[in-house]
Amino acid sequence: MDIKNMLIIGNWKMFPVSFKEARNIIINLNKKISKKGKSEVVVCPPYPYVLPIVTDLKKTRLNLGLQDIHPEPNGAHTGSVSLPMFDSAKVTHVILGHSERRALGENNLFISQKIKSVLKSGITPVLCVGEVLRDEDNTYLKFIETQIRESLSGVPKQAISKVVIAYEPVWAIGKDAKRAATSEEAREMRIFIRKVISDMSNSQVAMHTRVIYGASVDKNNISSFIEAGMQGLLVGRVSLDPVGFSEIINSCDVLK
Ligand code: 13P
Repeated sequence: MDIKNMLIIGNWKMFPVSFKEARNIIINLNKKISKKGKSEVVVCPPYPYVLPIVTDLKKTRLNLGLQDIHPEPNGAHTGSVSLPMFDSAKVTHVILGHSERRALGENNLFISQKIKSVLKSGITPVLCVGEVLRDEDNTYLKFIETQIRESLSGVPKQAISKVVIAYEPVWAIGKDAKRAATSEEAREMRIFIRKVISDMSNSQVAMHTRVIYGASVDKNNISSFIEAGMQGLLVGRVSLDPVGFSEIINSCDVLK
């Protein structure tokens, strides 16, 4: 896999509060980035903005992602939405197993159903894994291994490389986090994730599985994640700021 072709995903979470603001983010971001950069950029707005924003996205190089999805196409699932409902929107990626959803009670088994459903639609699932805390005796590694193994259970071995794995340490997410992961921490985790995938399938599949980093990413720390061998970034807060997000995209576009 070409490491220089970065995947940059903006996870807008439950922001902004109006569609007007959402449109402005896209319009302003588009003005600040080149029309054809080599990095792949995806924005994941809240559901109500997804279909209305398609027209604006079409005029840009930005792809459309979702923040979550129900595994079934329809059914008695109050409050849930399914992939076929977004069919006309040309969704390219779906974030699954984000820690903010896991905190609401989502478990690895349910996440694995979502991953299989998204794969079946030919869309790329972005599986989020990450420890809540780092302990001294490396229990967090076991925790992440379980997240990966269980969330990918039932996924055919060869299909694992179609899943993007996003390492998002929970302790580094959000405005209250003291810091992002260091380059060393990110590198260790990238190697570890690949080893788990290799054990589940084989080294070829592991080598072709994209591992990206998310949690307190900004323009000042992206170089440390690139140095750590991360092949992409999952950006929260900064993805809502066209200036900050464009700086990240522009830096990744010129990577040699
Ligand atoms: P922040 O970049 O705001 O820390 O959020 C990270 C995240 O959760 C992206 O999915």
